[in-house]
Amino acid sequence: MNFQLTEEQLAVQQAAREFAQTELLPGVIERDETQTFPLEQVKKMGELGFLGMMVDPKYNGGGMDTISYVLAMEEISKIDASASVCMSVNNSLVCWGIEKYGTEEQKEKYLKPLATGEKIGAFCLSEPEAGSDATSQRTTAEDNGDYYLLNGTKNWITNGNTASIYLVIAQTDREKGHKGINCLIVERGMDGFVVGKKENKLGIRGSDTHSLMFTDVKVPKENRIGEDGFGFKFAMSTLNGGRIGIASQALGIASGAYELALAYSKERKAFGKPISQHQAIQFKLADMATEIDAARLLCLKAAYLKDQKKDFGKAGAMAKLFASKVAMDTTVEAVQIHGGYGYVKEYHVERLMRDAKITQIYEGTSEIQKIVISRELLK
Ligand code: CAA
Ligand code: FAD
Repeated sequence: MNFQLTEEQLAVQQAAREFAQTELLPGVIERDETQTFPLEQVKKMGELGFLGMMVDPKYNGGGMDTISYVLAMEEISKIDASASVCMSVNNSLVCWGIEKYGTEEQKEKYLKPLATGEKIGAFCLSEPEAGSDATSQRTTAEDNGDYYLLNGTKNWITNGNTASIYLVIAQTDREKGHKGINCLIVERGMDGFVVGKKENKLGIRGSDTHSLMFTDVKVPKENRIGEDGFGFKFAMSTLNGGRIGIASQALGIASGAYELALAYSKERKAFGKPISQHQAIQFKLADMATEIDAARLLCLKAAYLKDQKKDFGKAGAMAKLFASKVAMDTTVEAVQIHGGYGYVKEYHVERLMRDAKITQIYEGTSEIQKIVISRELLK
């Protein structure tokens, strides 16, 4: 076993770190307060290759491995989790899904502009009445010969208003259960497709979360991904990889908060010495660092298995389950170490604490990750 990162992986990590410091850090507090999507910054992320990192270069991607993706996600998430969720959805749900299961025509038409960030993608599974229980969705894709007629509402869609390419999971034949579901590529601007209201959220407030409404949207048959009835399997398979992205986001939120707490503990004095000299603070830092390391190892293990083309569903779910808890625990302690200063915006840790919570909810709640893991264990 080799824990040494390659030169290339280290270079990606460094590039992401520099980008986050120079481009994302300025304005991150204001964007959170005003719920502003980091549009210019995401554009630059595309130019630097962060939005299609693992896509084959023949489709304009970076051709990088999943380990590099984890490293970049961690660095971006340390500073701005609203930018990193956009990055995660575009890379590991939308690009990966089309590259793995799409037709050559779909890759030419949709993957190429997604991989460069010229266009942004969204992944649309959840509905007002169907989140964890994803097969109970109500959106329908009626088979009308050479097109599907799409009707329904999707909820909580990340990149909802910024995207122009949407992967929409919908029911074609309810009687067939999950085998009657399809995934359709829907373009912004198709008649009958309306972007609904933006959600006012606890955290990742710069991220662009919207509901989407579809009323008699005609989607050409050639926009279906995979065989008829493959949509649910497509969603589950894609989410296996997406969870590595969100686990890495959680890891970044945790390590960002830890780094801030470590630095602050050396500066802040109480009872005549830096608070880092009090054992209670030292033990908090020791716990944080240990848990973050364990979370990172789980993320890298899942990424390694994916790169080796081995089963990575359980490993990705474990990484997300664990890293998201570490993100919550670490950010709460980082606020504690900052005392009163931790409770105000300027010191960043309160934002990281609010951002951390979503990693236990989206791409499958922690309870759902336990279902995924235990089913694999008991198989
Ligand atoms: N990988 C591959 N295939 C899977 C799978 C996985 N992880 N989980 C299930 N499947 C397959 C099963 O093998 C089965 O196929 P077969 O019948 O051919 O064997 C089929 O899918 C149906 O499986 P189940 O009977 O297990 O389905 P279920 O109704 O019991 O639900 C579940 C399983 C794991 C709970 C699933 O519904 C689930 O993952 N729910 C959470 C949904 C979710 O993660 N949503 C995230 C939305 S995207 C998002 O959130 C993005 C963002 O925020 C940024
Ligand atoms: P529910 O499924 O109603 O769950 C409520 C509670 O019950 C949870 O604690 C859950 O864990 C628990 N629960 C449910 N079933 C079980 C069970 N069988 N056993 C034990 N406990 C259970 N979705 C998308 O499709 N695309 C996106 O881009 C996207 N982005 C999002 C961005 C944000 C900011 C948010 C908040 C959500 C986003 N989602 C997205 C939706 C997200 O994936 C769902 O919110 C999530 O899957 C949970 O679904 P739910 O909210 O309906 O909760």
